[in-house]
Amino acid sequence: MKNILVTGGAGFIGSHLVRLLVNKYPQYHIVNMDVLTYAGNLENLKDIEHKENYTFVKCDICDLKKVKTIFNEYNIDSVIHLAAESHVDRSIEDPFSFAQTNVMGTLSLLQAAKEYWIDNYSGKLFYHVSTDEVYGSLGDDGFFTETTKYDPHSPYSASKASSDHFVRAFADTYGLPIVISNCSNNYGSYQFPEKLIPLFINNIINNKPLPVYGKGENVRDWLFVNDHARAIDVIFHKGKLGDTYNIGGFNEWKNIDLIKVIIKTVDRMLAREEGSSEKLITYVTDRAGHDLRYAIDSSKLKNELGWEPSLQFEEGVEKTVKWYLDNKEWMDRVTSGDYQEYYKKTYN
Ligand code: NAD
Ligand code: DAU
Repeated sequence: MKNILVTGGAGFIGSHLVRLLVNKYPQYHIVNMDVLTYAGNLENLKDIEHKENYTFVKCDICDLKKVKTIFNEYNIDSVIHLAAESHVDRSIEDPFSFAQTNVMGTLSLLQAAKEYWIDNYSGKLFYHVSTDEVYGSLGDDGFFTETTKYDPHSPYSASKASSDHFVRAFADTYGLPIVISNCSNNYGSYQFPEKLIPLFINNIINNKPLPVYGKGENVRDWLFVNDHARAIDVIFHKGKLGDTYNIGGFNEWKNIDLIKVIIKTVDRMLAREEGSSEKLITYVTDRAGHDLRYAIDSSKLKNELGWEPSLQFEEGVEKTVKWYLDNKEWMDRVTSGDYQEYYKKTYN
């Protein structure tokens, strides 16, 4: 029996992880702690919300007093921490909320775990889910490994880097049992349409301009979200205490090439002439501090723990586009209200 606190479980990656854990481990109790920001949506977990081994608790990770009571109430023995402000463009507009949630929120969870577990760390684990963006930007060659020096450029990546440092500091100073993973760009169902792939799918459907930053030459390394959830499961159960694992699919795409694949797939599924929506591509001012290239070397995870991505990219894109076309109501609901304001502010 384990009582696992998953933070940010109503978000994109968190909801896939919660679903995996709840279904695969009926003997575990999964407590999903989420404050439900614009990015958190309990609709993402409709299919498992009735399960006996699942509990949702609405709580801000920065609220240390409340976090402590939740550790106590559910006798938490493991944490998988995903709750965060996660969108780079928003961090450029409002860096303070990123420092608050990503740094202070992580610190509050670490403190609660330390205080609750201090008498006996055996069998306990604080798993921190981080990003490859902490490593900065690559040139044309090379990969990020677990020993690449941190070099964050956006307020988002700086806040995630800081949270990683706090997690390691709690291990070194107080002996807290921790593990960290740093993953590349995820794609798949239930991703909030501020991120490139769902935003562009939605705009293609609605014949709206596709705002490509700069020349579209930045490179990202894309991983299907279910494969990230599988990797977290493996690292949670088999990862070495104190270690870091990079997660990625060796799947690099220049933005403009990826965008053309998305366009072709949506056009085909909507029975439009394939590629006809390329006319929607609109080059816009580049993102400030835009990292040129991310590429993850995940060979440690493969060699030591046996994890590999399960899906080829083409299959992942097909599944993803189909999901957004089949779930128009979900998209309509999350793009109503505040989203319209955000969109106007960011793109007009
Ligand atoms: P997301 O924005 O979709 O979800 C974040 C979730 O955290 C939401 O449910 C939100 O309500 C919740 N949350 C935010 N602030 C909170 C607070 N103060 N208290 C409690 N809950 C709060 O994010 P995501 O894309 O699913 O990313 C999840 C984690 O994975 C983040 O830590 C992110 O840095 C990391 N990550 C994301 C990617 C990616 O490609 N999306 C890649 C690597 C790592
Ligand atoms: O690498 C992991 C990171 O991937 C995660 O830590 C972040 O939480 C996640 O948001 C993602 O960050 P990116 O900035 O890489 O993702 P985003 O989808 O915002 O952008 C992907 C690329 O597309 C990037 O080079 C910027 C570009 N882009 C994005 C948007 C939203 C555009 O050209 N136009 C757009 O409108």
